[in-house]
Amino acid sequence: MTRRDPIALGRMVLVALLLASPTGVVLAVLAAQQRVGLLWAALVWLGVVLILAMLVRSHLVRLAGLAGWIRSLALGGEPGPPPGRDDPTLGGIVAAVGGLRRMSAQRAAELTSVARWNEGLLDGLPDPLLLLDPARRVVRDNKAARLLFGRGLVGRDISLVLRHPAVLEAIDAVLAGAGAQECEFTQPVPVERVFLARVGRPEGQAPEGASAMLTLHDLTDLKRIERMRADFVANASHELRTPLAAVAGFIDTLRGPARDDEEARDRFLAIMAEQAQRMSRLIADLLSLSRIELNEHTAPSERVDLGRLLIGAAEALRPLAEARGMRVELSLDPGLAPMLGQPDELTQLFQNLIDNAIKYGRADSAITVSAAPAGPEDLPAAAAALKAGPVLRVAVRDQGDGIAREHLPRLTERFYRVDTAGSRRMGGTGLGLAIVKHIVNRHRGVMTIDSVVGQGSTFTVWLPAAGR
Ligand SMILES: Nc1ncnc2c1ncn2[C@@H]1O[C@H](COP(=O)(O)OP(=O)(O)OP(=O)(O)O)[C@@H](O)[C@H]1O
Ligand SMILES: [Mg+2]
Repeated sequence: MTRRDPIALGRMVLVALLLASPTGVVLAVLAAQQRVGLLWAALVWLGVVLILAMLVRSHLVRLAGLAGWIRSLALGGEPGPPPGRDDPTLGGIVAAVGGLRRMSAQRAAELTSVARWNEGLLDGLPDPLLLLDPARRVVRDNKAARLLFGRGLVGRDISLVLRHPAVLEAIDAVLAGAGAQECEFTQPVPVERVFLARVGRPEGQAPEGASAMLTLHDLTDLKRIERMRADFVANASHELRTPLAAVAGFIDTLRGPARDDEEARDRFLAIMAEQAQRMSRLIADLLSLSRIELNEHTAPSERVDLGRLLIGAAEALRPLAEARGMRVELSLDPGLAPMLGQPDELTQLFQNLIDNAIKYGRADSAITVSAAPAGPEDLPAAAAALKAGPVLRVAVRDQGDGIAREHLPRLTERFYRVDTAGSRRMGGTGLGLAIVKHIVNRHRGVMTIDSVVGQGSTFTVWLPAAGR
C-alpha cells in the first residue's frame, strides 16, 4: 500500500472509523451526561481513530508486501524471505503459502521426471516416430527417427525429409480429419529399406499442438525373408524339374523310337540313373538343411575330438581327390582341445568344404586341412564374439581358380553358385555351403572365406572349444 493508493487509504480510514465507533459511542454518552467535556471527548475520539488508523495501516502495508511476494512467486521469481514471517496473524498465511510452494515444486519435479520418462520411452521405441502440427511441421521426434533422418527435425516440414507422395497424402488426410492411414514406401538411401508408414491422430490433449502421429515400421527383413522363401521354392522346384524332365524324356524315347535299340537303352538308363541320383541327393540335402535349421537354436553337447573327426572326413574323400590327382594334407596341432558338437554334422561340414576344394581346386594340386587352437589376437572381426573363451580354427585351403570378391557374401545362400552350369555338371546341388553355414551357426561358430582369384580359396571355421 502506498500513499498514492486512494482506495487503500479510504479503506484504512473506514476500518479505523469502524473500529473506533464503540469508543465514540461511549465518549458521546459521557459527553451527553456532561461527565466529560465535548471537546475533550472529541479529541480523545480523534486520538483513538488516529492510533487505530496507524495500526490498520501498518497491517495493510504488511499484507500488501505479502501479496507482492506471493505475486512474484506466482510469476516464477525468487523474491527472498517472505515479509511478515514473525507476524502472528500473517505467519499462518506465510506458512500456508510455503506449503503450497513446496507442493508445487514437488509437482513440477514429478512432471519433469514423467516428461523425461516419456521421452525415454519414445527414444526406446525401435520404430521411428514423429508428431506433426497442423502445418505438417515436426513438433517431436524419437531417437530412431533421428537415426533415420538425422538431427534437427523439429520445426521442419516433414516433406523436406520424407518426399513420398503416398505418405504425405496420408498425413494430409489425417490432418484434414480422416481416420488412421497406412501405406508402404521404399527409402533408397543410405541403404534401401522398405517401411510401413502409419499415420493417426494422437489421443487426448497432445503437446505442442501435435495433430498427427507418424510411425515407420521397417519391413525390409520381412520382405527379404518373403522373397527368399519364394526364391527357395522356385529354385528347389527348378533344380528338381531339370533332372525329372530328363528322366521323363528318356522314358518316352525308350518307349518309342529307341524301343528296340539295345545300345541306346543302356546309355539312356545310365543317364536316367544318374539323374535319379541327382534328385535323391537334392532331396537328401534339402532334408538335411531343414533338420539342421530346426535344431539350430539348441547347441550340441557331445564331446568331439576334432582331430580324429577331420582324419575320418579326409579319408572318406581321398578316392575322390585321387581321381583328380589331388592329395589331402592334414596339419593337426597336437594340443587341440576337445569341443562340444554333433559329430555327424561336423563331419558333413568338413566333408562339404573338402569336397568343394576337390571340385574347384586345380587337378594334381594339394588341399590342406589344418586345425589349431586360436588365440584372441588371431580372431578376425567377424569372430570377435568368440573372444570370451578358447577357440579352435579349422582351415580348408585349395589351389584353385579362387572366387571373385563380389560372390563371397552370397556363397552360403541356398542354390547360389558362381558357375551354375559347371556346378550342375559336377553333380552339385548348390546347397553344400548353405548346410555348412547352418552347422557352423548351430555350433555357435563363425566361418570366414578368403580367396585370391587365380590362386585359391581358404574356408576357415572358428569354433568354440569345450571348457568355456
Ligand atoms: N573352394 C572353392 N573354390 C571355388 N569356388 C567355390 C569353392 N567352394 C565353393 N565354391 C563356389 O560356391 C558355390 C556354392 O558352393 P556349394 O558347396 O554351396 O554348392 P556346390 O558345390 O555347387 O554344390 P554341392 O555342394 O551341393 O555339391 C559353388 O558352386 C562354387 O561356385
Ligand atoms: Mg559344395
